[in-house]
Amino acid sequence: MLNWDESITAATTAKMQPIIPPAPVPTRDDADTHHGMTGLEQVEFGAGRITVDDKQMINCRADLNQLVPFKYKWAWQKYLDACANHWMPQEINMNADIALWKNPRGLSEDERTIIKRNLGFFTSADSLVANNLVLAVYRHITNPECRQYLLRQAFEEALHTHAYQYCVESLALDEAEVYNMYREVPSIHDKASWAMKYTQSLGDPDFHTGTLEDDQRLLRDLIAFYVIFEGIFFYVGFVQILSMGRRNKMTGCAEQFQYIMRDESMHMNFGIDMINQIKIENPQLWTEDFRQEAIKMIRESVELETRYAHDSMPRGVLGLNANMFEDYLQFIANRRCAQIGLPEQYPKASNPFPWMSEIMDLKKEKNFFETRVTEYQTGGTLTWG
Ligand SMILES: [Fe+2]
Ligand SMILES: [Fe+2]
Repeated sequence: MLNWDESITAATTAKMQPIIPPAPVPTRDDADTHHGMTGLEQVEFGAGRITVDDKQMINCRADLNQLVPFKYKWAWQKYLDACANHWMPQEINMNADIALWKNPRGLSEDERTIIKRNLGFFTSADSLVANNLVLAVYRHITNPECRQYLLRQAFEEALHTHAYQYCVESLALDEAEVYNMYREVPSIHDKASWAMKYTQSLGDPDFHTGTLEDDQRLLRDLIAFYVIFEGIFFYVGFVQILSMGRRNKMTGCAEQFQYIMRDESMHMNFGIDMINQIKIENPQLWTEDFRQEAIKMIRESVELETRYAHDSMPRGVLGLNANMFEDYLQFIANRRCAQIGLPEQYPKASNPFPWMSEIMDLKKEKNFFETRVTEYQTGGTLTWG
């Protein structure tokens, strides 16, 4: 034990031994350690300092508890950008929505279906994304600056779950009906259950990356969740709810969705950066078979999301119809393919909703519906003594 009366020099130079003897540290040579560190290994006393070249996205054997030196500056920048976009659901005024929802002539039945279906889908969808993140993906991404972003993303997913709960509560919807929709409405169920198999594949506590097949399992999950779930399955709902806002209906819900869409577009872009970086570091994973499988996943997802568009909007409403969504989904699927280096699948697709990109480019100072200034104030509620 250190004795405070003893001089520091004497105590520390006596043996240069750690007070707690270290447990054996797994080494690179251990037969079963092709996979990466988790960050929970014993602290190896006297181990060498980390350099940028020691770091890699997956299967990294360098200590994960040291954030710097940064290797992937894009990951740290996205973390900073995400923090700069901070918002809270209860900052958004829901009074106009409550009045409109209660007014029997305020909305058509089709408009009410759109609100309920989307809250039904997104309430469970964001929980699914959060669970995939913390129970499946996080452990296998062996880079601290990426993990820093993943932690921020996980918090944002909690905010989204909170935002949907806040909408459901504000409108006094039947909670059981909304929250159980992913087990009752086929088009919602099918999207959730399509994604579930990819996260289940990684959630097994005995699963590790480190072989071609297992590294591809991780990459498949990243494509399923970042490119497809957050990059395709969210977009019919985003267009529908934001269209209501553009027509001055349900502007509180629309504003919640607008902030969520801004976060989600960053999540997707971060996921695409991770996928592409993993491809650069592990080109052997990107086989012809794997590429064909990824294309098949994207094409399946366009079908599922088109079905969701028909189901949530059986008739034309708000200047929208289900055929426009088919075109839009093919257009964004082309973009997703290009973003991860796959050939575009739908040569005739065009974008019937160019206004969506304007909303996406939302500046922080003012929101699209101009109901409030969105600069997030920090520290304003602290009182001392
Ligand atoms: Fe989310
Ligand atoms: Fe997300």
